[in-house]
Amino acid sequence: MRLKDKVALITGGARGIGLGFAEAFVKEGAKVVIADIDIDRATKAAEAIGPAVKAVKLDVTDLDAIDTVVKAVDAEFGGIDILVNNAAIFDMAPINDITEASYDKVFAINLKGPLFMMKAVSNVMIARGRGGKIINMASQAGRRGEALVLLYCASKAAIISATQSAALGLVKYGINVNAIAPGVVDGEHWDIVDAHFAKWEGLKRGEKKAAVAKSVPIGRFATPEDIKGLAVFLASADSDYILAQTYNVDGGNWMS
Ligand SMILES: NC(=O)c1ccc[n+]([C@@H]2O[C@H](COP(=O)([O-])OP(=O)(O)OC[C@H]3O[C@@H](n4cnc5c(N)ncnc54)[C@H](O)[C@@H]3O)[C@@H](O)[C@H]2O)c1
Repeated sequence: MRLKDKVALITGGARGIGLGFAEAFVKEGAKVVIADIDIDRATKAAEAIGPAVKAVKLDVTDLDAIDTVVKAVDAEFGGIDILVNNAAIFDMAPINDITEASYDKVFAINLKGPLFMMKAVSNVMIARGRGGKIINMASQAGRRGEALVLLYCASKAAIISATQSAALGLVKYGINVNAIAPGVVDGEHWDIVDAHFAKWEGLKRGEKKAAVAKSVPIGRFATPEDIKGLAVFLASADSDYILAQTYNVDGGNWMS
């Protein structure tokens, strides 16, 4: 068991990739807190996995709520060893149709939330003096722009940069900060992406998804199962000498 008795806080863990991480971390011996804006779904997910998982309601754009949740988890579990900044949203529009509301929402959830989660969690990690692991969810979207996806791509590029700066700032406390850049992962997130492409490119629902699946060198979408191994590695002592990196798990989509 590579995460025995570790305490992990996963934002947006009620479904999709974050839920896959929660299941994988528990199998490796961790206790997991899923912090999600959708508390009903998070609660059901936690109950389905078992007593090692607790669900808490958190909107990562609410800085007071971040402080309250992080302090409560730290107090209840005797510290936080692993933070996964996983919650994010997708939006898309051609640059000429981008709205301020979309900008504010995408950057509040995809960048501001993760930054202040890193601040709050690293503060309690420093106070406990036993280091920790922070994993930020980036994306292949952060590696290059896309004509219709400016805001999401920019938010994920910012996460790659923030991962580097935070890693350099926190290494002296024994806290490793790294990021994962998935390619395309099947689930509700991509159902939303597909609907956006249908709207802006005049496609039928499912058409974009089918075309994208064919374009991945490995020939298919990922599942959360495909991503979890790297998350367990980055959360474990096996990655103690690694920091400031963003690793692709994308079936060969991006080579760097
Ligand atoms: N699915 C993909 O193809 C893909 C590809 C690359 C990167 N990613 C990234 O991986 C991460 C997980 O993706 P996913 O596919 O599981 O997404 P998802 O949309 O299925 O799940 C996101 C979760 O975040 C929660 N959430 C949304 N807003 C929140 C808020 N303000 N506060 C707290 N929780 C909130 C949702 O309730 C949901 O449970 C995201 O950061 C995403 O950008 C996904």
